[in-house]
Amino acid sequence: MEFLNRLVIPQSAENLELLRYILILALVLLLPYLAFLKGVSLYSVAFNLLGRRNGNENYLRFSKDLIDVVTFNKSIALVLGIIPILSLILIYSQLLHASKMGVVGFMFTAGLLFVPAVVLIYSYKYTFNLDWLLSMASSSGNTPAEGVPEEPKMERSEVEAFTKSNLRVSRRSGIWGVILLFMASYFVISGIQLSFEPDMWSQKHTFFGLIFSMSAIYKYIFFLISTVAATSGAILFYFFSWKKQEAEAGEAKEDRYRNEIKRFSLISGIWAVVVLPVFILLSLFMVPHGAVSDSFFGLSLLILFILFALGHFYYMMLKQSGVNYSASIFFLLLIFFVLFTVNDQVAFSYATQRHELALASNYEAIVKEKMEKAGKGPAISGKDIFDGRCSACHRFDRVLVGPAYKNVLPKYEGHRDQLTAFISNPTKKDPAFPPMPNQGLKPREVEAIADYIMKTYKQYK
Ligand code: HEC
Repeated sequence: MEFLNRLVIPQSAENLELLRYILILALVLLLPYLAFLKGVSLYSVAFNLLGRRNGNENYLRFSKDLIDVVTFNKSIALVLGIIPILSLILIYSQLLHASKMGVVGFMFTAGLLFVPAVVLIYSYKYTFNLDWLLSMASSSGNTPAEGVPEEPKMERSEVEAFTKSNLRVSRRSGIWGVILLFMASYFVISGIQLSFEPDMWSQKHTFFGLIFSMSAIYKYIFFLISTVAATSGAILFYFFSWKKQEAEAGEAKEDRYRNEIKRFSLISGIWAVVVLPVFILLSLFMVPHGAVSDSFFGLSLLILFILFALGHFYYMMLKQSGVNYSASIFFLLLIFFVLFTVNDQVAFSYATQRHELALASNYEAIVKEKMEKAGKGPAISGKDIFDGRCSACHRFDRVLVGPAYKNVLPKYEGHRDQLTAFISNPTKKDPAFPPMPNQGLKPREVEAIADYIMKTYKQYK
């Protein structure tokens, strides 16, 4: 990632802090979206394959409805996916600059996988529309109405060929899209996990050793189960809160379809919400030492509480049909994602505290050097210069090697420039004294010492 290193701008401690907040923001957008997109696309493709094999109309319909849920808007993949991933790349390259940790490489790979994944998922979605059009083409136009000139028709065999190839495209783009999505999220998740394990990077680990390390795999399984929860929540919300009106106008057949969706989502959701606490408790023991803090424990506790509440709502919805908690479930799930993102970042900032300090002090050194070059260094003390450079030959009140200041300085009253000119380049003045050697001071030092002696000599009159 050489070219990214060139983008790194030295940051002050305050800026680094700000970057950490932006990082959390990017992750809060990205992780739930990645989970929804991944889970919903997977279900859609799976139900599509199953539906085609068994000829189950409801499965096919569910498959189409699902993919419409995550792709309801084209720019959503940009705003919630691509832009956050780019931000992760940039922010991690600032925060982990000059450390051994290659998290940036992980995020970069994730981005490279995510973009084609999204393209494939969207083309998968469009094959549904095309399929629908093709089925219209093959069923209509057989009996043109009286008096209407017959429209140019597609040959039946042609339509069939199109349908077949469309199906092939649909299957391929769906399956590959999902695979790439899973891979992309693996890189994001393992990158986050490894970001608070600095030791991992300095040990012998190769790229594969790192990416398939225990803690990375563990975190990914955790994320997969969160994905199941998130997906069930998203489906429930979409079908039972958002598209509620359609449900009320539904007929018996419609109701059956919706009930199947509800059962499926509720059961997968409950299952996930029951398993997740076990993972969280275990992960408390697995967090590396350098990353543990009180806030980490506190947040973990809060997450457990949210999961408990979620389980409760799921159960209520399953037991008492007709009760609708889908909106509460959806928002609790979002909170769950926010909390565990924040928790990871708390661990990250603990684990990389020392590195951040190093970066910040590096920044301060650079600033100091620049200021000095521009002649604006830290305040120079005239007294220090006097003690160090002039007191060997001068006193204020008596003659030493050079004259007493109280005797020679009055003539410089109001002529600061003459005094500074003399100090920076002494010329022969009084024949009773030897010439004063040049002290080789910088202009700012000359000004400081001149002001200091002009101010101080008056005390010795
Ligand atoms: C090695 C001894 C030595 C050191 C060190 C030294 N001076 Fe001098 N200074 C002299 C001598 C000798 C004279 C008298 C020169 C003359 O009259 O030509 C003198 C004269 C001066 C005068 C009087 C000039 C005048 O117009 O009569 C000033 C002001 C002065 N020094 C300031 C300084 C300051 C400020 C420093 C420290 C940055 C300094 N000196 C360090 C030996 C020294």
